[in-house]
Amino acid sequence: MGSTKVAVIGAGAAGLATAKALLDHDLDVTVLERGDRVGGLWAGDDSAGTSPAYDSLHLNTSKGRTQFVDHPMPEHWPDYPSAAKVAGYLADYAHRFGVTERIRFGAEVTAVRRAGTHWEVGTAAGTEQYDAVVVANGHNRDPKWPSPGYPGAFDGTQLHAHDHCGADAYRDRRVLVVGMGNSAMDIAVDASHVSRGPVLLSARHGSHIVPKYLFGRPADATGGALAVLPWRIRQAVAQTALRLAVGTPERYGLPKPAGGLFQNHPTISDTILHRLTHGEVEARPGIERLDGDRVLFTDGAADRVDVIVWATGYHVTIPFLDGRWTGDDPETLPLYQRVFHLDDPTLSFVGLMQSTGAALPVVEAQGKLVAAHLAGRYALPTPAQQRAHVERMHAAAVRRWGAKRPMMRIDFDQYTAAVPRELRAGARRAVARPTPTTKAAI
Ligand SMILES: Cc1cc2nc3c(=O)[nH]c(=O)nc-3n(C[C@H](O)[C@H](O)[C@H](O)COP(=O)(O)OP(=O)(O)OC[C@H]3O[C@@H](n4cnc5c(N)ncnc54)[C@H](O)[C@@H]3O)c2cc1C
Ligand SMILES: NC(=O)c1ccc[n+]([C@@H]2O[C@H](COP(=O)([O-])OP(=O)(O)OC[C@H]3O[C@@H](n4cnc5c(N)ncnc54)[C@H](OP(=O)(O)O)[C@@H]3O)[C@@H](O)[C@H]2O)c1
Repeated sequence: MGSTKVAVIGAGAAGLATAKALLDHDLDVTVLERGDRVGGLWAGDDSAGTSPAYDSLHLNTSKGRTQFVDHPMPEHWPDYPSAAKVAGYLADYAHRFGVTERIRFGAEVTAVRRAGTHWEVGTAAGTEQYDAVVVANGHNRDPKWPSPGYPGAFDGTQLHAHDHCGADAYRDRRVLVVGMGNSAMDIAVDASHVSRGPVLLSARHGSHIVPKYLFGRPADATGGALAVLPWRIRQAVAQTALRLAVGTPERYGLPKPAGGLFQNHPTISDTILHRLTHGEVEARPGIERLDGDRVLFTDGAADRVDVIVWATGYHVTIPFLDGRWTGDDPETLPLYQRVFHLDDPTLSFVGLMQSTGAALPVVEAQGKLVAAHLAGRYALPTPAQQRAHVERMHAAAVRRWGAKRPMMRIDFDQYTAAVPRELRAGARRAVARPTPTTKAAI
């Protein structure tokens, strides 16, 4: 075991993939996990109790595009396995690569700070020193409620998608689901089987809805083949295919999407389209105001409602790092390769990104970057070059995604193709110019 001590915070997909890569380089890794098992959000019933997973949750990215390169999912599995299967898969991964024994469960990290040449990492058990820290704490845990809230007051029940478990809470009740993301789709469908009357689905902006299967194959299966093309061309091809297969969102009574496909986080669901066409879910525009047991919409219509589910997304939070390291909002934190802190690359982040596709191959690639860097096999470009690269990526992301989390965006195909090239370039830099990335210089 090498002498570089690395703390990885979190044993979800990101932390596990990073720990595996660090072990591959023989580094001394400790994974600190506040829950009692691996798998992060997929292990919905872990003792941390903060997972947003619900009974009906399945992958919405296909098995073939979601699995780790280093650990394929079983061939006999369906294309879109359940959350329980994904949690089992992650547990197998941790076991197979010797990560499980490097994990300290029940260890919630409460503080991380720089102390001279080391990092101090605090848990309830005390403070320990590490040479490097990898933040892999996930960013779908802190519910984002509308802020400011809508005018007026609502007398019924309100919950955030984070606290949705299953359909029982909606039995014989009139339900409004707010949002057009993947949580809103699943919750509206779940509730529509038991609710009193159709579930209302309110969207202030439209989204393209991609079914899980297109032309008899997983909808994301063509992504790899088209990956070499610029995203604008991929967009045109995919949007045409989508229109031919399912029509436009307006056809289902939903608002027209504000941007093109691949310019927003993909909303993937077969079942919502069925429930809309069956009249079990009805589209509504944005909310104007709340009024007792009524909700008034921007088109002037009003409906009586018993339960509102706010499927309005999540805040990105890293509570154990202060603003010196995260800036005002971790959502806007610039990172080289979406991994390395620009002021100190011994602080790195895995999974602090929003992918156009699956997350697992992205965090696997990010873990490999971190590990190669800490092992001295991959040297970073100069700080000025790193900043220039971040600025270029950010400018391109603003052109594509506008104000919607541009700093965090990753194009799945481009990124997973670029990381191996970046590793090779960093290896050449390491040979040409031994850098302060090796243990001696940390
Ligand atoms: C409902 C939902 C469905 C999704 N579906 C898909 C999908 O179909 N396909 C896909 O590719 N992606 C999907 N995602 C994205 C998902 O975020 C990734 O798949 C992946 O699970 C993220 O892994 P992670 O390790 O970054 O975060 P998490 O899975 O959230 O893991 C973070 C871990 O860190 C631990 N932790 C947090 N804070 C601390 C602390 N202070 N100290 C110690 N431990 C801590 C947590 O307990 C947790 O175990 C989905 C996300 C959500 C919310
Ligand atoms: N595997 C699966 O099936 C699955 C299921 C659920 C979630 N997920 C993943 O989990 C992550 C989180 O998804 P999510 O759906 O919870 O969140 P999300 O993707 O952030 O979507 C939030 C939605 O709420 C809307 N919204 C935000 N603030 C609003 C407000 N004040 N008033 C009205 N609408 C508002 C947003 O639309 P605006 O454009 O109007 O802001 C958006 O449509 C994503 O990565 C997603 O892919 C996956």
